Amino acid sequence: MQLPDPRGPLSQQVGHVLAGRACEGPAVTALPLPTGEVLDSEDLQLALWMLFELHYRGFDGVDPDLEWDPVLIHSRGMLEGCLEGELRGLTAEDVRRAQRRGGDLAGRLTWLIDDLDRGSLATFLQRSATVDQFADFMRQRSIYHLKESDPQSFVLPRIGGPAKVALAELQYDEYGAGRPERLHADMFGRALDAMALDSGYGAYIDEASAATLAMNNVMSMFGLRRRLRGAALGHLAAFEATSSAPCRRIVSGIERLGLPAATAAYFDEHVEADAVHEQLAIRNVCAALTDDEPELADDVLFGAASCLRMAEIAGEALVGSWSETPPRQRLVAVDA
Ligand SMILES: [Fe+2]
Ligand SMILES: [Fe+2]
Repeated sequence: MQLPDPRGPLSQQVGHVLAGRACEGPAVTALPLPTGEVLDSEDLQLALWMLFELHYRGFDGVDPDLEWDPVLIHSRGMLEGCLEGELRGLTAEDVRRAQRRGGDLAGRLTWLIDDLDRGSLATFLQRSATVDQFADFMRQRSIYHLKESDPQSFVLPRIGGPAKVALAELQYDEYGAGRPERLHADMFGRALDAMALDSGYGAYIDEASAATLAMNNVMSMFGLRRRLRGAALGHLAAFEATSSAPCRRIVSGIERLGLPAATAAYFDEHVEADAVHEQLAIRNVCAALTDDEPELADDVLFGAASCLRMAEIAGEALVGSWSETPPRQRLVAVDA
């Protein structure tokens, strides 16, 4: 993948450092952080996304050893601090409401997911989206789905016992269950190909919205910070538990639009698989994790709330980009 185009001083300076031209500007840590909301800052989110990408496939012509460059790690920590702080604020009340429910972790987590699941984007895709809008959705989603499940794999060595066994089982499915043609990331690639879109890894990074970048950054931050392993698995549970029914609606939208079978195949796979993964992630991963490490229960709820709040923000941003009407209004109208 080529380095993305910068969108402001932070991403420009990260790009300079990765391209071996660190002397062309100040240290990333010396730059002022955005004054607006962190989740809305394309510049900050892109800079952070580039720093995280060093831990995945990296960039063409960029020294792979920069993955562990102390200055870049320090810069990443600074940007992650901004992101985590904003997420904690965004979800604090959600987590408090789930805590007040009492009962076991699986019950509180299920209640929180049901409470925050909006599903409006899938309904829009099912009933109203045009082919061009569906293609926009695929391009934004390609940033994650072409590395689907990779952020959660970072968690495996950080946990043990039954939770580790269940997470490995879930990841095994995501990685094709022994069949290369069922690797979910590649199935998404074929879904893009079938629509004559670019299935190259990171091909659409220059089009990724702040919300799309932030969604991906949240997963990477949770996966790459051992301290946040509870949040990573709560996020996974919310992601899996809000996938099956929306994927069914998206398949119906694909049929309405007459899009190719390979595009439907990716979402169809998730209708059944994620109905199973939901229970696996809530009970066998998250509940087992907190049996072992009860102090992580609040972070499991934090991770789940973060997943669902980010999905809501990204859905509103995408639908909003298709209309002059304020996004929240449109999504409510679709659900009515
Ligand atoms: Fe999947
Ligand atoms: Fe899944």
